[in-house]
Amino acid sequence: MKIAPLTRNPSGDFAGDVTGIDLTRPLTADQVAAIEAGMDRFAVLVFHGQHFDDDTQLAFSRNFGELEISSGGEMSKPEDRRLKLEMADISNLDRDNRVRTADDRVRLGALGNRLWHSDASFRAIPAKYSLLSARIVPGSGGNTEFADMRAAYDALDDATRAEIEDLVTEHSNAYSREVIGFTKDDYGARNQDKLHPVRHRLVRTHPVTGRKSLYLSAHIGTIVGWPMPEARAFIRDLTEHATQRCFVHAHVWRPWDLVIWDNRTTMHRARRYDDQREIRDMRRSTIRGDGMTTPQQEAA
Ligand code: OGA
Ligand code: MN
Repeated sequence: MKIAPLTRNPSGDFAGDVTGIDLTRPLTADQVAAIEAGMDRFAVLVFHGQHFDDDTQLAFSRNFGELEISSGGEMSKPEDRRLKLEMADISNLDRDNRVRTADDRVRLGALGNRLWHSDASFRAIPAKYSLLSARIVPGSGGNTEFADMRAAYDALDDATRAEIEDLVTEHSNAYSREVIGFTKDDYGARNQDKLHPVRHRLVRTHPVTGRKSLYLSAHIGTIVGWPMPEARAFIRDLTEHATQRCFVHAHVWRPWDLVIWDNRTTMHRARRYDDQREIRDMRRSTIRGDGMTTPQQEAA
């Protein structure tokens, strides 16, 4: 297995292109360790030609920890699902493999992926890795962009680093949905499980490398102890800073690509494509993190 850097920024390599390994077959402990070491260094790894089905993707994913299960909420009603609960359906298809119409609620909710975010940051224990497998890709558009939150942190001035060191933010799906125009009554009633705000540190330290990174996400709605407008304005400034092109790698998908990213040290977003005329069938398995980033608020 070899890894070639895809981008470089002032803090080092970001995103690696991996060759010489077939992930659909059982891996040795050494191979898994080499992938984890690559993740620690590059934060995003791209593999081409990985002909996964759902079972082989899930089996491969389990090498890295416990799988996250999407539960509750309208995105995962059993009667509407195309895929099993361990697999997030990042496609524009319904359970009968028909293109979702323009006004389809699941389609509209999924447009939240177009905002810069970190997966499952609305959970008290947020995601470690996400693994996204491309089965069918559109002829144009539909890239996924990744931003290096380690490099973004390193590039802050000393005063800002000192100011944010111990800040705690509140994340909820309600906030990101609000940004794309859902109202609380509309989205909230159907997605109760994802709405209770959770707290996370704004600065995280990677458990293996010890590198610090900004923990930003579209799900952030406020900073604990700050007036909301001031918090939102500051989070917006930090997000603008962190997503400058020098910190970003854009992935152009080919069928059978697998991309793994570390949600603790990166943000990502989906880019537009013609989802009424083209099919994009991507499937994501998600590895649960090891723990909370900060204690949660006591229940009132
Ligand atoms: C995801 C996601 C972006 C994309 O799978 O978590 O945000 O480009 N995907 O589909
Ligand atoms: Mn995502």
